[in-house]
Amino acid sequence: MERKPVSDWATDFDIFDPEFVADPFPVFADLRERCPVAHTDRSGGQWMPVTYEHIAEITADTDHFSSVTVGVTGRKPGEGAILTAPPITSDPPEHAGARRVLLPSFSPKAVERLTPLTRDLARRLIVEIRESGDDVVDAADRYARHIPVLVIATMLGVPLEDEERFTDWAVRVLQIGLYDLGVGQAAAKEVLEYFKGHVEARRADPAPHEDLIADLMAAELDGAPLTDRHILGSAFLLLVAGIDTTWSSIGSSLLHLATHPEDRRRLVAEPELIPTAIEEFLRVYAPVTMARIVKEDTTVGGCPMHAGDRVLLSFPAANRDPALFEAPEEVRIDREVNRHAAFGLGIHRCVGSNLARMELQVALTEWLAAFPEFSLVEGAELEWTGGQTRGPRSVPVHLG
Ligand code: HEM
Repeated sequence: MERKPVSDWATDFDIFDPEFVADPFPVFADLRERCPVAHTDRSGGQWMPVTYEHIAEITADTDHFSSVTVGVTGRKPGEGAILTAPPITSDPPEHAGARRVLLPSFSPKAVERLTPLTRDLARRLIVEIRESGDDVVDAADRYARHIPVLVIATMLGVPLEDEERFTDWAVRVLQIGLYDLGVGQAAAKEVLEYFKGHVEARRADPAPHEDLIADLMAAELDGAPLTDRHILGSAFLLLVAGIDTTWSSIGSSLLHLATHPEDRRRLVAEPELIPTAIEEFLRVYAPVTMARIVKEDTTVGGCPMHAGDRVLLSFPAANRDPALFEAPEEVRIDREVNRHAAFGLGIHRCVGSNLARMELQVALTEWLAAFPEFSLVEGAELEWTGGQTRGPRSVPVHLG
C-alpha cells in the first residue's frame, strides 16, 4: 500500500511506515532527544510517548487511561461495537477478577508441566526439517510460528489439526486487521463462533474436560459463573495474544543468533546463559505495542491529552531508554540488570510471561543443540510485521 511519506516524526509519525517497521529505534532515539511525546493525525490521531518514565506513568494511571480498546488502530468508544477480551480490555474494578480467573493456568508450576510437551514439539519440528533434507530453511515459518500456537491449542483443549486456522486468525486480527478493519472484525467473529461451538459441545457432553475452556466455564466471579461473552472473549484473547507475540520473539532471537556468530557460539558453549540471553532478546526485540484511550483530559510530559485520544504504549521504545539501560542499543546476552518492559507494566502485565519464557527457552535450546552452526542466508530479504506486534516473518538460514 502506498503511504504518504512522514514529514516530521514528532508531529506526523506513521507506525506502519516500512522503514519504521523494519527499524524503529533511530526514530525513538531522535524523539527522546527533541519530542518525547510525539503526535500524529494519522489513524484517527495518536500520541506516542517514547520514554520508559512516561510509558510507566500511563500504565499506572488507570483513572485517566482506559484499556477498553487496546488496538493501535480500530474503533474507539462510541464508534460502534468493540470486542471485549477480558482481562486485557477490562479496567478496574472488573479487571482484577477477570485476571485472577486465568492466573492458575499460567503459574510457574502449570507452565513447568507443559515443558515436556513443548520440547517434544520442538524436536518434532526439527526432525521434519532434517528429514526434508533442505540446507536452507525459513526458521520463522518452519519452526518459530508453530510452537506457540500448538501449545496454546493444547492448553485450551481444541484440536491441533486446526493450527493453520488459528495462525490465520492471529494474522488477520493482529496484522492485516490493523490496516483493514473489516478483515480483523470478520476474523474476530469467526474466532468467537469457533469457541462458541466448543463451549456448546462441552455443555452437551457430560464427560469432564481438563483444559482452559473448561476452567473458564467452571470459574466464578462474585459468586456467579462467567457470562458466555466473558468466556468467549477470554478464550479469544488467549488464542490471539499468545501466537503472534511468541512467534515474533522466537523469530527475532533466531534472527539475532543467525547474524551474530559470536553470541551464537557463546550460547552453544554456555547454554546456562540462555535464560539471561532471552531477557536481553525480549528487551531489544520487544514485539508488543499496546494502546490506551484517554478517559479524562490530562497531561503527559506537558502534552495535553483529551478524552477520547488514543495513546500508544511502545514497550520497544521503553526498552531502549538510556535513562534505564546502560548502552541500550547494544545487545549484551549476559546483561545482568534488565528490568525490561516487553511484557508490559502495571496491572495488565502479561499473564502469559512464564509460558512465553518457557517456550523461548525450549525453542532456542533445542534449535542450538540441533543446528549449532546456522547463519542467515546472504542477501536475504527480511520481512517484518509491525504495528501491534513486531517480528520477522521470514528468517531464511543455512543450517550449517
Ligand atoms: C513473548 C511473548 C509475549 C509478549 C512480549 C507479551 C506481551 C504482553 C504485553 C505487553 C501485555 C500488556 C498489555 C497491556 O498493557 O495492555 C500482555 C498482556 C497479556 N498477555 Fe502477553 N505477551 C506474550 C505472550 C503471551 C502468551 C503466550 C499469553 C497466553 C497464552 C499471553 C497472554 C496475555 C494476557 C492474557 C494478557 C492480559 C493481561 C491483563 O490484562 O491483565 N501473552 N502481554
